[in-house]
Amino acid sequence: MARIHNILDFSSKKSSGTKISIVTCYDYSSALIVAASDIDCVLVGDSVAMTMHGASSTISATIEQMVMHTEWVVRGLKDGTKAGEKPPFVIGDLPFLSYRKDLTANIEAALAIMQAGANAIKLEGAKGNLALIEHLVDSGVPIMGHLGLTPQSVNQIGGYKVQGKTTAAHDAMLDDAKALAAAGCFAMVLECVPAALAKEISEQVQIVTIGIGAGNDTDGQVLVWQDLLGLNTQFKPKFVRRYFDGFGEFQKALNHYHADVLGQNFPSDAESFK
Ligand code: KIV
Repeated sequence: MARIHNILDFSSKKSSGTKISIVTCYDYSSALIVAASDIDCVLVGDSVAMTMHGASSTISATIEQMVMHTEWVVRGLKDGTKAGEKPPFVIGDLPFLSYRKDLTANIEAALAIMQAGANAIKLEGAKGNLALIEHLVDSGVPIMGHLGLTPQSVNQIGGYKVQGKTTAAHDAMLDDAKALAAAGCFAMVLECVPAALAKEISEQVQIVTIGIGAGNDTDGQVLVWQDLLGLNTQFKPKFVRRYFDGFGEFQKALNHYHADVLGQNFPSDAESFK
């Protein structure tokens, strides 16, 4: 089945039982690689604050950063997509508190990300956001929700922990998932949620669920670029699978180049101008 180009493709994949692959992406050259891959859809996550800017949480992400990274990614996906084909769907994150202001400011935050080229926006949590979600959906903005571990609330949650483990938390998350669907979200991320609860939500809501640390029964999965490609040796939570030793392979290439320079093996005659 073709990759995702619009929100109808999400529901078609759910109806046909075809799983959805999403990867985060933050820059032009990585987006060229994603465009050449089979990945269905791209998230310009506010995890960019940690993965690309070295911050200790996503709280420092700003609208300006999200706009800049979204523009880079959208440009890379466009340039990297074969002529005659459409680039994959892009979701941009709204940063911490940017959607908890007054309606005008919230709309301006969403507008900035959409005008940067995103096809949809993602925001964290349900309570307090439902009226805004309804308003944005009615205004033509596709919204992806995000439940479970919502990293922007790390200070409120008290750390990066699995959510929904008690009966009360389980029931509250199921209610929130139903509320996000009723408010008009086309999909939601379930992050660090017990697999059984993620399965229950995926079965009980009509909209697409995308898991990260939420087991294998969600409608799709999302992984962070640096985690998937083994670029971050400091961080290896249980739910991450490294598909490549990116750090080691880049390091080897850099050391190879260094040795070639020191040994005068680079550049060769063929790499020099006559
Ligand atoms: O910002 C991000 O990368 C995310 C994913 C972890 C879902 O929200």
